[in-house]
Amino acid sequence: MRSCLPALVLSSCASVSAFDEPGPWPPPERGMVVSEQPLATSVGQRILERGGNAADAAVAVALALSVVHPAAGNLGGGGFAVWVAHDPGEAPLCLDFRETAPAALRPELFLDGSGKPVAARSLETGLAVGVPGSPRGLFDFHERLGRLPFSAVVEPAIELARRGFVVDRQLAEELAEERVLLERSPGAQEVFFRAGSPLAEGDRLRQEELAQTLERYAREGPDGFYRGEVAALLVDEVRAAGGVLALEDLAGYEAKWREPLRGWFRGLEIVTAPPPSSGGIVLLQVLAILDGFPLDEERVRTLRQGESSGGDGISERALHWWIEAMRLSFAERAEHLGDPDFVSVPVALLLSPERISKLRVGIGELANPAVRPLVASPSESRDTTHLSVLDPEGNAVSLTTTLNTSFGCGLLVRGAGFLLNNEIDDFAIVPGSPNAYGLVGGSANALAPGKRPLSSMTPTVVREGGQVVRAVLGSPGGPRIITSVLEVLLRTEVYGQSLAEAVAAPRLHQQWNPPVTEFEPGWDSLLLQGLRNRGHVLETVDERWGSVQAIAVEVGGAPLGVSDPRSGGSARAARPLEPRR
Ligand code: DON
Repeated sequence: MRSCLPALVLSSCASVSAFDEPGPWPPPERGMVVSEQPLATSVGQRILERGGNAADAAVAVALALSVVHPAAGNLGGGGFAVWVAHDPGEAPLCLDFRETAPAALRPELFLDGSGKPVAARSLETGLAVGVPGSPRGLFDFHERLGRLPFSAVVEPAIELARRGFVVDRQLAEELAEERVLLERSPGAQEVFFRAGSPLAEGDRLRQEELAQTLERYAREGPDGFYRGEVAALLVDEVRAAGGVLALEDLAGYEAKWREPLRGWFRGLEIVTAPPPSSGGIVLLQVLAILDGFPLDEERVRTLRQGESSGGDGISERALHWWIEAMRLSFAERAEHLGDPDFVSVPVALLLSPERISKLRVGIGELANPAVRPLVASPSESRDTTHLSVLDPEGNAVSLTTTLNTSFGCGLLVRGAGFLLNNEIDDFAIVPGSPNAYGLVGGSANALAPGKRPLSSMTPTVVREGGQVVRAVLGSPGGPRIITSVLEVLLRTEVYGQSLAEAVAAPRLHQQWNPPVTEFEPGWDSLLLQGLRNRGHVLETVDERWGSVQAIAVEVGGAPLGVSDPRSGGSARAARPLEPRR
């Protein structure tokens, strides 16, 4: 694997005094689970209370989400999971269970007669479907790191699918929003519609076929999905919708253990996803660029002068640095990042101090948008989901999983009960042509058989002084995943906000192309005017994006869980297994 790296020291960590003494460090007072769906969160809580560890709980929550959060939680998609053990001597791990392109997939299949890409083909047809990674990935993750029997972590999802659950407002809204997409799939209609209309809030959703697929998976492991009856049903569904996925693609799928990226920011070690996700590199690059700016002096000056900042000390000048750092790093993303098994990703170079300095000195006092055509700003959908777990022994899992856009390509596999992804759209199918998130890319992220499309998923664990878990976080949101995680870290670590404040605070997003920077509602208008004066092109949008699911904990303390108020998730503490002395 070409992107593997030793720990990257991106900035010095002078403030590790709390860790001058050698460990072992006490574990947290109890465990914590945070996810976007309260029923799934409760599944994780129960697993921890039964003595499962963070890996058991994370896999159980991910599988429960495949039942109760069908827009994003999935068997038919993929993702990334980061594991950080309490013992600092145990190396952190990342499992990449990203989907792959089927062997017969070719870029030409997505083009019209004049050679232009037809967006619908990579979003709403069988051609959009990448080989699912979740069933293999969740099994492998559990097998290596879990403690309970596999059947015990699948069981709660089977129960939820078979007995059903009451559709909440979020799911009802998602189903209504994607009515047209789902109506096209007879399988989806059967499961998610009643008398011709999408299920409404308060209706009961039972998924017997999904329960049977999960039972088979519990019994047979990944073979129960990638081979035999389920595989045949999946291939039939995809082919009937114009796809080329074959049984051999399924049988050959492998999840990959990759060394997570590790960088430093203000005495904190950031452990995060490596390529084929861009999330970790962009996060670490932006943090490293910003670390060279006088953020603290600027904050103190702003607070002292009572300059407009909404009381948090975030000045217009600091925001200018944030935006320019994001812009530069997203430009690097478009040029250099792709599947490290297919292209050489210069990870060490991109994160080297020389590179970071070069990027930083390119930031002046004015906005510097790269000259590129503006593309329409895509709207946010609810298509990815993140979960964070900390167990009572101090082990952490940060796991992000997705079908890509809401309900994936909308196809539900008849007879097997699960939805299929449209992850192929994350490739740069035609260089320079934007995908559903407005992201462009070049040859590094070109479509090729067996290749993984570049992702923005950023499951992250923060360790204090490189020793003990201090935070676990991640988000959905396409490229906004990266900036959402980044802004929560900046707000807590630089601006002294609590985790809840930082997660709730309004966000901004800049991804190089388009050059416009988007702002959620809630920013101070004088700040925005100041940025315009620097030449920034801004757009204030009505919607809010991302859904950060985060945990913060002090050494030996009670963990705090925060589920983003932007969606209807929950955080639940797990009772300690035994009373502590
Ligand atoms: O892997 C990626 O970057 C995208 N497929 C994720 C999509 C996403 O997060 C949408 N969420 N709202």
